[in-house]
Amino acid sequence: MSAAKIKGIKIDWEVTRHELAEVEGIPLTKKMCDRWDKIWGFQAKPDDLLIATYVKAGTTWTQEIVDMIQHDGDTEKCKRASTSERQPFIEWVLHETLTPGWEKAEAMPSPRTLKTHLPVQLVPPSFWEQNCKIIYVARNAKDNVVSSYHFHRMNQIMPEPGTWEEFLEKYMAGKVVWGSWYDHVKGWWKAKDHHRILYLFYEDIKENPRHEIQKISQFLEKDLEKEILDKIVHHTQFEIMKENPMANYTMVPPEIMNHKISPFMRKGAVGDWKNYFTVAQNERFDEDYKKKMAGTSLTFRKELSGGTDSPLYH
Ligand code: A3P
Repeated sequence: MSAAKIKGIKIDWEVTRHELAEVEGIPLTKKMCDRWDKIWGFQAKPDDLLIATYVKAGTTWTQEIVDMIQHDGDTEKCKRASTSERQPFIEWVLHETLTPGWEKAEAMPSPRTLKTHLPVQLVPPSFWEQNCKIIYVARNAKDNVVSSYHFHRMNQIMPEPGTWEEFLEKYMAGKVVWGSWYDHVKGWWKAKDHHRILYLFYEDIKENPRHEIQKISQFLEKDLEKEILDKIVHHTQFEIMKENPMANYTMVPPEIMNHKISPFMRKGAVGDWKNYFTVAQNERFDEDYKKKMAGTSLTFRKELSGGTDSPLYH
C-alpha cells in the first residue's frame, strides 16, 4: 500500500497503473470508460475555451501561455494554483476518491479554460453546440512518442510502457491511451475547417514563441502590449516553466509522478527523437507513417533549421 498526498490530502490507496478499455474503439483508461456518460454529457458554455492536444504535444506549455494572456502577463496570478486546478482536464479520473475533471470544471466560475486529450469524435457534443473556441496543438510524431515513453515511465498510473521498442510498437498501432496519434492529428485537422479551432504546432511555438503567442492572443481577441508580450515569452520558456512548481507537476505526489525517473519538464526540444530511434526503427516508422498519413495536407517538421535552441526563443 502506498500513501500519497495531493494538496495536503493523504490518499490511502494503492497507486497502480490504469487498465485500458475502449469507447467507440478508442483506448481510454478504464476509469474514464466507466464514467463515460458523465464525460459525454459534460455541459460546455459558450465562453468556454478548450485546449485540446494529443498527450505530450505541449499541452501544459499552451495552458501557461493562455493563462498568461488571460491575466495580462501577471505571473503572480498565474501562480494561484497548479495547472490542473486552473484549467481542469475534463475527462480525467485519477481515482474514485478524488474529484474528476468534469466536476472541477462544473465548480468553476466562467469564463473557463478547459483541457482535453480526446480525439475530435469523442469531444462532448455540447462544445460544438455552444460553438466554443478551441486551441489544438500538435507535435511531430517522433518527438511525441519519445516524450510519451518517458511520461509513461515516470507516471506510475499510466499503463506500463515496456521497453522503448515495445512502446514504439504500441504507439504505431494506436494501442495507447487516447488512441492513435495519426487519427488524432488528422481528425482535428479536418475539424478546423468547420469549427472555431486554432490549430498550432509545437515546433512553431518553439521556433518563434512571440509570433505564436500573438496568434493565440488574436484568437482570444486580446490585445497585448509589447511589454506584456515580452513577459509572456519569458515566463513560458522551458527553463522558467521547469522551475515553476505551479506548472511543472512537482505538486503531484512522487508516488504518482516520479520526476527522478524522468522529469515532467524533460527536454522541451525539437529533434530529441534522434537520440532514441535506431536506423531500422526510423525506416520502419517512416514507411508506416507514409501509409497512415497518406491523403492529408497536414505536415510536420521534425527538426528546426536553427537547431532546438533557436535565438528567436530568447
Ligand atoms: P519532452 O518530454 O519532450 O521534454 P504535455 O504538457 O502535453 O504533457 O507535453 C509535455 C511536453 O512538453 C514535454 O516534452 C515537456 O518538456 C514539453 N514542454 C513543457 N513546457 C514547455 C516549454 N515551456 N517549452 C518547450 N517544451 C515544453
